[in-house]
Amino acid sequence: MALPDPFIASLRDAVDIVDLFRMYTDVKKAGRGYVCCCPFHSEKTPSCHIWVDDPHFYCFGCGVGGDVITFVRKMDNLGYMDAVRLLCERYGLQMPQQDPATERAAQLRRRCYEMNREAARFYFQNLIKGSDKRGLRYFKERQLTPDTIKKYRLGYAPDDWNVLRDHLRSRGYHDDEMVTAGLCRQSDKGSVYDYFRGRVMFPIIDRSGSFIAFGGRVLDGGEPKYLNTNDTPIYSKRKNLFSLNFAKDAASTTFILAEGYMDVIAMNQAGFENVVATLGTAITEDQARLIANYAKEVVLAYDSDGAGQKATQRAINHFSAVGIPTRILRMEGAKDPDEYIKRFGPDRFRLLIDQAGDALNYKLDKCRDGIDLQSEAGKSELLRRSVGVLADIENPLEREIYINRTAKELDVRKETLFQQVERLQRHRKQKAGQAEFRSIELKTAQRTTHVPEAQQFPREVRAEEQIIAYLLRFPEEHEVVAELIPPETFVSAFHRDVYAAMIELLPEHREGVLSLLGDRFTVEQMSEICGIAAGNEGIAIDRDTIQEYALLLRKAHDTAPPPEELTDDDLLRAVARKKNGR
Ligand code: UTP
Ligand code: MN
Repeated sequence: MALPDPFIASLRDAVDIVDLFRMYTDVKKAGRGYVCCCPFHSEKTPSCHIWVDDPHFYCFGCGVGGDVITFVRKMDNLGYMDAVRLLCERYGLQMPQQDPATERAAQLRRRCYEMNREAARFYFQNLIKGSDKRGLRYFKERQLTPDTIKKYRLGYAPDDWNVLRDHLRSRGYHDDEMVTAGLCRQSDKGSVYDYFRGRVMFPIIDRSGSFIAFGGRVLDGGEPKYLNTNDTPIYSKRKNLFSLNFAKDAASTTFILAEGYMDVIAMNQAGFENVVATLGTAITEDQARLIANYAKEVVLAYDSDGAGQKATQRAINHFSAVGIPTRILRMEGAKDPDEYIKRFGPDRFRLLIDQAGDALNYKLDKCRDGIDLQSEAGKSELLRRSVGVLADIENPLEREIYINRTAKELDVRKETLFQQVERLQRHRKQKAGQAEFRSIELKTAQRTTHVPEAQQFPREVRAEEQIIAYLLRFPEEHEVVAELIPPETFVSAFHRDVYAAMIELLPEHREGVLSLLGDRFTVEQMSEICGIAAGNEGIAIDRDTIQEYALLLRKAHDTAPPPEELTDDDLLRAVARKKNGR
């Protein structure tokens, strides 16, 4: 075991699980515990439960669960040690000594952060003071002020193969570390060279203010226009946002989401602090959820071209899935916010933001695209599309208002439109029901990967679950239970491991045994264990039931045929005995 139990116990006591969740999602008190919308899947009604005694969580929707360390592992995509380290940093605890391999991985991550910071400083100095003024000229042409350049720590990577590499070497970093950090690349022949050359540089800074990656733009018409850092040990482009470090502290709870680095910077310079952009990809579910942590509403300010409009539709759906309403900016006379602000000024742009219509109006308007309203066929196609949009509206009052309005616009009877919308809704509900059924089936199938024995021994496996749940609920009963039920009578190998670990730990640790299981089991297994606790919460289990289960398991164990073959270990032991002459 890598970390001493008393240390894990002190970490568990230092971390307030509710406080930890609040950094990511809204948490509400419910009964003895708490509930929240699950940070691991998209939902509008909370199905993730949090328990404060023996702090753990379990989502009844997606089946993810665990202790505080598991939570951080899943949330920030970290290994066990890195999650512990992060919690230690946040809660001011000292990490104990570590084994060399994890020490090295942590060290590499630290060096990646340092190298990125150093590179940002290097590019910035080069922009401001370097002899090659092309970068600075470029930003001036794009009307960025010195304050903005400084605020965003913009930079310039000289048109040279080795300047950054040599600079980082002089600071004591190794070539392979630079490659890992995404700042350099290695050629087929083995030489290491700068990844960004002859580009203006946009540093990407995470929520806590660390430099983690870069975007670099060519000065002319070269390809690719933007070069971005690929994923590294400290950076995932699907989980971060450009300028979130500023937007997260903005006074407004409305966020503006744009496509490009320059759009964000131009808007910020025009007085909008609450702006972010994705990093060279379409918006992901993780990013929508990240925004949902800070914003109550999002204005989509994508480019006015076809690609931008398609991306808008997708973004509307992502935000709707995480319960964030969207409004859509409609720009005329400019292709993106940067251009619009340059042409018409910040005040006109602010007006545009204020006037941005909601997603529904946008979608209803979009239904008209490419339709010939003079023809009957065109009209009926428009009607069909509009019904599709109207059926999405969940609030009945709101739905009625829009149905009335659309009926007038399309010149059809509102009763007819109403019926059509209802029919489509019924049909969708049926389909959703089927999908839910399938997802439950799928979950059951996933479960059997942890407990394949459930197929053959459903009653015994069920008994084992309840024994584990009983121990979690009444840890002081461990002696009685251990006396009654030897681990080897468990039919499920996974349950046996969990049970054996608990029996081993409980004499020393009456409280919070879950957190001690974290480094013996994977995150998926931790979910399974917390699922056992959560799934049996309302079920009465007492000593009598435990006694029945003990009998049931013993019977199954006694009637099972004994293992015949010798294992490899047995053979090795036998050989060793012979060698020693015993
Ligand atoms: P755009 O091509 O719309 O560029 O790409 P832009 O933001 O308006 O850039 P300027 O104004 O010409 O400088 C939008 C975003 O898509 C990503 C970048 O994040 C960019 O900001 N992108 C674009 C890439 O990652 N690679 C590319 O080659 C092009
Ligand atoms: Mn642009």
